[in-house]
Amino acid sequence: MKTFLKRAALTLVILTVVGFLAFLYNIPPLFWIAPETFGADMRHAAPPVDGIADPARRAIAERGRTLAMNIGCTGCHATNGPQGPDLTKYLAGGGTKIVSERGTYVTRNLTPDFATGLARRTDDDVKRVLRSGTFPDGHVVPYTTMPWANFSHLTEEDRHAIVVYLRSLPPVTHKIPEPSFEPVALPPGAVEGIFGLKDYGIN
Ligand code: HEC
Repeated sequence: MKTFLKRAALTLVILTVVGFLAFLYNIPPLFWIAPETFGADMRHAAPPVDGIADPARRAIAERGRTLAMNIGCTGCHATNGPQGPDLTKYLAGGGTKIVSERGTYVTRNLTPDFATGLARRTDDDVKRVLRSGTFPDGHVVPYTTMPWANFSHLTEEDRHAIVVYLRSLPPVTHKIPEPSFEPVALPPGAVEGIFGLKDYGIN
């Protein structure tokens, strides 16, 4: 009995010490992962704009590249492979599915592919989504699903720069399902359900 109590006390002490060290490592001053390493893979994979011959257009695309890398597009519009984002399919979508009482939405393919990407949209179509979430068919994606309420505060120049950059990406054929407007029940108090571990695209 005595040995058992001793072992139990020792286990408790070890667990407390390990737990305390884990806590220390996870509070900001000792956090061992540099914040900028989150999403760094996607950032470094951003295709460069060197291929654009016109220097003025190249400079605009470079601005769009910086914006797209840094204001959240990559987090949602990635394409997931078996080991996380597939960096060869930059911004080809399908990496996030968002459900709520407003329906089910999958992030779209932003590469300039004709059948499945943004090549079928005009520049104004793309800018309208960034400004107000309104699609050519008239549906409006909720701003909690695609954060256009934030992007509506970009300047026209910035929105244009993003479009110029998206048009310079290597096209990837990756079909994304159309949204469904059937309400999806969520636990009380939840605004949305977000899924992000698979490729939610069709092919
Ligand atoms: C929180 C997730 C999220 C973020 C962040 C996000 N989007 Fe989206 N986006 C979506 C979803 C979901 C859709 C699909 C909506 C639908 O089908 O109605 C979408 C749709 C779009 C479309 C419409 C594509 C088409 O086929 O017409 C464009 C363009 C777009 N996003 C660009 C961007 C850009 C550029 C950024 C960064 C500035 C961005 N998105 C950031 C979730 C996101």
